[in-house]
Amino acid sequence: MAARKKTTRAPETKEEKVQKEKVQEEKGQETTPQKASKREIPPEVIERVKKLREEIEYHNYRYYVLDSPVISDAEYDALMRELKELEAKYPELITPDSPTQRVGYPPAKEFRQVEHAEPMLSLDDAFSEEEVREFDKRVKRLLGLPEDAKIEYTVEPKMDGLAVELVYENGVFTVGSTRGDGYVGEDVTNNLKTIKSIPLRLRPLTDDAPPVPKRLDARGEVYMEKEKFKQLNEERLRRGEPPFANPRNAAAGSLRQLDPNVTAQRPLDIFFYGVGKVEGYEFKTQWEILTTLPKWGLKTNPHCRLVKGIEEAISYHHEMEKKREELPYEIDGIVIKVNDLSLWEKLGTKARSPRYALAYKFEPTQVTTQVLDIVLQVGRTGAVTPVAVLKPVKVGGVIVSRATLHNEDEIRRKDIRIGDWVLVQRAGDVIPEVVMSIKERRTGKEKPFVMPKTCPVCGSPLVRKPGEAVWRCPNKNCYAQLVRHLQHFASRNAMDIEGLGEQVAKALVDAGLVRDVGDLYYLTVEDLLQLPGFALKKAKNLYEAIQRSKKTTLARFLYALGIRHVGEVVAQILAEHFKSLDKLMNASMADLMAIPGIGPEVARSVVEFFRNERNRKTIEKLLKAGIEFEDVKEEAKEKPLKGLTFVFTGALKSMTRDEAKKKVMALGGRVASDVSRNVDYVVVGEKPGSKFQRAQRLGLKIINEDEFLKMIGEK
Ligand code: IVH
Repeated sequence: MAARKKTTRAPETKEEKVQKEKVQEEKGQETTPQKASKREIPPEVIERVKKLREEIEYHNYRYYVLDSPVISDAEYDALMRELKELEAKYPELITPDSPTQRVGYPPAKEFRQVEHAEPMLSLDDAFSEEEVREFDKRVKRLLGLPEDAKIEYTVEPKMDGLAVELVYENGVFTVGSTRGDGYVGEDVTNNLKTIKSIPLRLRPLTDDAPPVPKRLDARGEVYMEKEKFKQLNEERLRRGEPPFANPRNAAAGSLRQLDPNVTAQRPLDIFFYGVGKVEGYEFKTQWEILTTLPKWGLKTNPHCRLVKGIEEAISYHHEMEKKREELPYEIDGIVIKVNDLSLWEKLGTKARSPRYALAYKFEPTQVTTQVLDIVLQVGRTGAVTPVAVLKPVKVGGVIVSRATLHNEDEIRRKDIRIGDWVLVQRAGDVIPEVVMSIKERRTGKEKPFVMPKTCPVCGSPLVRKPGEAVWRCPNKNCYAQLVRHLQHFASRNAMDIEGLGEQVAKALVDAGLVRDVGDLYYLTVEDLLQLPGFALKKAKNLYEAIQRSKKTTLARFLYALGIRHVGEVVAQILAEHFKSLDKLMNASMADLMAIPGIGPEVARSVVEFFRNERNRKTIEKLLKAGIEFEDVKEEAKEKPLKGLTFVFTGALKSMTRDEAKKKVMALGGRVASDVSRNVDYVVVGEKPGSKFQRAQRLGLKIINEDEFLKMIGEK
């Protein structure tokens, strides 16, 4: 009977459904599982799963043990994703030791082992809004909440460092460890003690701080600030040591040192984001954790926030992605956590990650790819920069196929060879750069780069000034320099000549129509018709754009000239200070250095530029063509009283004496307190004093208030 009863299955209760979903998920299945039994698994799938596991294991070792990965996080994520997808499709293939079921890496033997009182899990990753919404739906489904319920979440920056746990017993820091494989970590207590922001003893620091609990396992992320990481790498390269790929590896490598004295030299910091085992205090929400830890001296990230509903969490992601650049430390996404801790228990955890939290990652800014070639690029100032031609890759949201290698010394220091696998970085609007070569991926066929001795464009022997890292082409007529200079001159923030990009600049130089930027303004529509692809309309448009650009501002013009070290900001400072091209052209080093914001390097460059005969000729040509500075001219227009001296006597009807004085000064004039031969106008109001008679005696020009108002344009 009992057996029969089991076969007539009652409809699933809600609880059973939830349980079933959890189990399916654990196995990596979707909500509607495929029939797993009696199914042929294609041999190539078995092979691929095996291969992926081996690869991931190797990369785990490089990342967690050596702190020196040979692929980027993005590539690692892709491998993991592929494996997860295959395991979801073929759950029979899941083994307990599959990397998808495990966290991190077992502790290195060199360290004493520390067992975590509660396992330190990992987080599931999401890369799109859809995946994040899916997470929110699943949370609600598992909790039996309606679809339109708004869950309260904490949203936190996902620090890119390494996870640690610090045990505080009766407020005293006793043991600190790395995450290890989630169960057992490495003892790094003494190393953690060298981090200044880690308190050795917890104390209630605010009036509303609860008493320090009997035991608190605080969890956080050790990290290194970007600027400090850069300095550390510079130092390492100087000493001939291999650089760290990124701040995360630098932080991990620095903390996982056997000698705490080494760690003490490294600028490490920490943000706490959670707790493990706690005795003597009961947290109710994640927000309470984030706001209480600092009251005991444990720093949490001030950018953490409490939000309602998943859409607010998504907005936070966008917001932080924009802020990412300006933060002093690296974050690689945000972490979304259900706020109410009682729900954590209901949601439970999977093998390696909890169901109540999700990492919503940003676009990766570092990827690996291969150097196909190293070529030289000649800039508008003649600087010759080696550039890596790359196998195209997506980084920071765009496809990158070239990345700067900065200069010859840098290539040598980083030992970057043609054919190498390299780490490429593109952060924000910064030009993509090659961070390092991955020596482990060399085959022996890579070719070292040899810096050519001559300009790749004009053949002139390159020169390198002592103390400078850059080789330069000294030929001012060098085709490449001219083309780049034209391009810069015409660019949007310079003279803003629409339609004059790289191709047209090249065509103008190729056709022999332009030998310096001054030639642009003498081009006719007929001239332009000679250019390949130029019909009447296009020629006219370009001609008109060139003519239009004649009306400009001094700041734009100065920027357009392409003076070394004079970018838009410096150009603006110079224009505002001198208000005249002529004055600037004749300024001395001392004049320039007296201006706030102008240092000796800029001053020297400006003086040298305007001293150069060739540059002076070009400027003359440009001015002759009719370049006008609206800002400077306006000033001349606005200062009609320049050079004139006024004296006031008697009361004015429309303004006070002081107001009148200010107006004269604003228009460039001067106001004297008494009459003399140097006075140009005596303004006479009601009941004038003795100055009036003396002015008459001296034969000075005397005007009344009305005439004065007309003069200053107020009547
Ligand atoms: S919570 C069970 N919060 O990301 C959840 N982790 O793979 C445990 N991380 O090992 C992590 N910032 O090293 C959490 N605000 C944050 C975090 C964060 C960075 C790291 C942590 C963890 C990894 C997750």
